[in-house]
Amino acid sequence: MGKLHFHTIIIFFIFFIVFHVLCLATDTITPAKPLTVNQTLVSSGQVFELGFFDPGNGNLYIGIWYKQVEPKTYVWVANRDTPINSSSGKLTIGNKDINNGNIILLDQAETVVWKSNISVPVGNTVAKLLNSGNFVLCKENDENPENYIWESFKNPTDTLLPGMKLGWDRKTGVNRFLQPWKTSNDPGSGDYTYGINIHGFPELIYSKKERENEMKTLYRSGPWNGRTFSGIPWMKNLSSLIKFEFQDNDDEISYSFEMMSTSSYSRLVTNSSGVLQRLTWVESSQTWIELSFVPSDPCDEYQKCGPFGVCDANTSPGCKCMKGFRPKNQLAWDLREGSDGCVRSSKMDCQSDGFLVQNNIKLPESSRAYVNRTLSLSECAEICKSNCSCAAYANTDITGSGSGCVIWAVDLLDMRHFQGGQDLYVRAAASDLDEAHTVGASENDSNNNVVIIVSVTVGIVIMILLILICIWKKKIQRSNNSIIARKETDELELSFFDFTTLVIATDNFSSTNKLGQGGFGCVYKGVIMEGQVVAVKRLSTTSTQGIEEFKNEVRVIAKLQHRNLVRLLGCCIEVEEKLLVYEYMDNKSLDMFLFDKERSARLDWQKRSDIIFGIARGILYLHQDSRLRIIHRDLKASNILLDKEMNPKISDFGMARIFGGDQIEAKTKKVVGTYGYMSPEYAMDGRFSMKSDVFSFGVLVLEIVSGKKNREFYNACNQLNLIEQIWNLWKEGNALELIDESIRNEFSKDEVLTCIQIGLLCVQQHAEDRPSMSKVLLMLSSGGINLPQPKYPRFNIGKRGFERGLSSKHDESSSLNELTDTILVGR
Ligand SMILES: *[C@@H]1O[C@H](CO)[C@@H](O)[C@H](O)[C@H]1NC(C)=O
Ligand SMILES: *[C@@H]1O[C@H](CO)[C@@H](O)[C@H](O)[C@H]1NC(C)=O
Ligand SMILES: *[C@@H]1O[C@H](CO)[C@@H](O)[C@H](O)[C@H]1NC(C)=O
Ligand SMILES: *[C@@H]1O[C@H](CO)[C@@H](O)[C@H](O)[C@H]1NC(C)=O
Ligand SMILES: *[C@@H]1O[C@H](CO)[C@@H](O)[C@H](O)[C@H]1NC(C)=O
Ligand SMILES: *[C@@H]1O[C@H](CO)[C@@H](O)[C@H](O)[C@H]1NC(C)=O
Ligand SMILES: *[C@@H]1O[C@H](CO)[C@@H](O)[C@H](O)[C@H]1NC(C)=O
Repeated sequence: MGKLHFHTIIIFFIFFIVFHVLCLATDTITPAKPLTVNQTLVSSGQVFELGFFDPGNGNLYIGIWYKQVEPKTYVWVANRDTPINSSSGKLTIGNKDINNGNIILLDQAETVVWKSNISVPVGNTVAKLLNSGNFVLCKENDENPENYIWESFKNPTDTLLPGMKLGWDRKTGVNRFLQPWKTSNDPGSGDYTYGINIHGFPELIYSKKERENEMKTLYRSGPWNGRTFSGIPWMKNLSSLIKFEFQDNDDEISYSFEMMSTSSYSRLVTNSSGVLQRLTWVESSQTWIELSFVPSDPCDEYQKCGPFGVCDANTSPGCKCMKGFRPKNQLAWDLREGSDGCVRSSKMDCQSDGFLVQNNIKLPESSRAYVNRTLSLSECAEICKSNCSCAAYANTDITGSGSGCVIWAVDLLDMRHFQGGQDLYVRAAASDLDEAHTVGASENDSNNNVVIIVSVTVGIVIMILLILICIWKKKIQRSNNSIIARKETDELELSFFDFTTLVIATDNFSSTNKLGQGGFGCVYKGVIMEGQVVAVKRLSTTSTQGIEEFKNEVRVIAKLQHRNLVRLLGCCIEVEEKLLVYEYMDNKSLDMFLFDKERSARLDWQKRSDIIFGIARGILYLHQDSRLRIIHRDLKASNILLDKEMNPKISDFGMARIFGGDQIEAKTKKVVGTYGYMSPEYAMDGRFSMKSDVFSFGVLVLEIVSGKKNREFYNACNQLNLIEQIWNLWKEGNALELIDESIRNEFSKDEVLTCIQIGLLCVQQHAEDRPSMSKVLLMLSSGGINLPQPKYPRFNIGKRGFERGLSSKHDESSSLNELTDTILVGR
């Protein structure tokens, strides 16, 4: 019984197979067996399917898609630019009357809308859909891949499948590239192309058609370095999944990939929104996951940092100049607009030049590079050194200990710095070479230092000249107001503007250009040569009091470079005039937003939180990270300037003090600062330290969260100041009641509470209880986990507190006059 049953099954099974092969699933078109609208071809392994489809625009196309994937994912379209607008069509093989032996696509009226268009040798041909997704035309009974007459793989649309090659076929002269669909329902050729630029040192280029015959490069992969593309070092992370191949030989320059396991699907696609995606099918979840896409970070943008600029997505600002170079347009650079790039800061002298190695670099644009794969690195160096126009060199292949030679005798474009990049040897003036950076030594992630060192070197050279001018001026002026002692100028690096330039720039200090006024003078907006917008602070000529502060500010700020500090661009010193030139901040200062009903709406919680972080980083830099240890002494909302993107920048260093090595506290008889922001020990005893800045920071944080000014905040009945108010609410667990109305609708409760708690920790009475700025940043970033409970803060930092302090203790410490609000530097 069982045996009979078994036989029946076998017989049925065989029948089924025969039936299947003969009549149903077929992967081949012959002249006698065309494909019509309601039929499809399915590859033998059921991987791909070919047939007519309507992408949703009412037209018919022939396409190939994955048989097993829903929704339908098209990998190839035959007639992308010549759709069938009727409701039926036929895909068949041409006969001797029409396109003999070619694959042809006919519409309802039997006109040819698309064809394989190749000269076909005599004999019968068939077209077959292979399991790889390749649709091939071959001689009947000749399936040798070498004899394929035509292949869809050699006529790509928007997708690169495993086994398909992008690039240059040296024999036929054809360059193959990907082009996206026009829109998600129109497979027509879109405006982007992704293919190999075969000139120089070949690399993949993604570009967009701007106008007829005008392509704009959007992104480049960097040349193939034997392991990965120079600009895609993490390709090797995919090596267990995908094998990448790059060929540059007598037959071709091509790029392709294979899957390590043929059962997984992966494709590279140029999508219609202009993004290059690598997608892989995940069987278990039935979705495509994006392994990578381009452009994915700001540094993918072609030439983001201009000639000789290096982009780094992990730093801010993202553009850097290599050692021996400086920003061409410093102001734009500070405003994070790096496309002007960098220029050499030293004069080159071909004979004595050397090379500096830059590590972890995406090699520069290479279409005009010279390549010789047989030379060694040292031979490469020789050639580059002997040719004065050679700007840089590198190995062409980094496998093993490296081999081959590529030389750039052009501006170096589109470099970036990232982990896994390669070494680039850049020509540098002898004066820029030092042991730490010359060829052979390694320099990791120290580009910031490099920039500083270069700037300082340049600064010193300029200063020596300035000293000479200074001596000369001194003789003429015999003025003891001569601003900066010579030994100090040695360290400075800034421009000296002449007075006339600034008169012109500010339209003779016209009132329309006035940005603000403070105790020491006015601030004007100005436009100097090359269209740079700047803020010019003109110290009032009558203000003798300002001179010390002026000197101080120049001395302090000229040495600082941080994205959260306003940058001093230069100064001007003429007989009676003292002016400071700063970078211009589009959004003036924080107080103008914070304490203004309408404008405060522009500061959502995210922005406020970013501002708090930025200020904290700026102060940390002052306290710990710069080469000096600086106490600002006058941190307050009006001294926090905001740039175009509302990034905070600390300004006004008129009060700042520099501390020596391990000094932690100092005492002054002249207490200067601003009501509401001064720590008790400073206001009372004139003792200031980093912790007094921390106190001011705490007040700032509470102001940013509440949108209320500390010194002006008096509750109608009992005259509590802001800190008292917040403390009381905090104790009751109602701290959220005080947050600014304009962020009430949308904020993160946890984040706000964390900020309030940190604010309260910073305004604790005893300096030693307050956290350091590095601790503050840690607490801010850790999202409020394990924060200590704040102690009762000192309340009397308002007017009442001062009066008490003054009358009871230090009569000599200050006069009321000196305690007035410090200057307002509005820019
Ligand atoms: C294709 O199938 C649809 C519905 O299944 C039918 O309406 C249409 O007439 C068919 N077209 C052809 C050309 O057979
Ligand atoms: C269909 O296309 C043909 C040829 O491209 C054209 O002559 C015809 O007007 C089109 N018909 C419609 C309805 O768009
Ligand atoms: C067919 O091929 C010829 C020669 O290669 C070419 O000139 C022509 O433009 C092609 N036609 C189409 C429709 O692709
Ligand atoms: C690639 O792998 C390295 C180390 O294995 C890792 O540090 C890096 O983040 C990975 N990159 C990507 C893009 O996954
Ligand atoms: C293209 O890829 C990007 C990035 O993954 C995605 O956001 C976008 O929706 C894609 N566009 C289309 C039309 O698939
Ligand atoms: C590479 O350089 C070597 C030595 O100078 C030379 O013999 C060879 O012809 C060069 N190869 C190419 C392709 O230029
Ligand atoms: C220097 O290199 C450039 C670019 O490769 C080349 O055009 C020029 O002839 C070279 N000059 C010398 C003196 O070799």
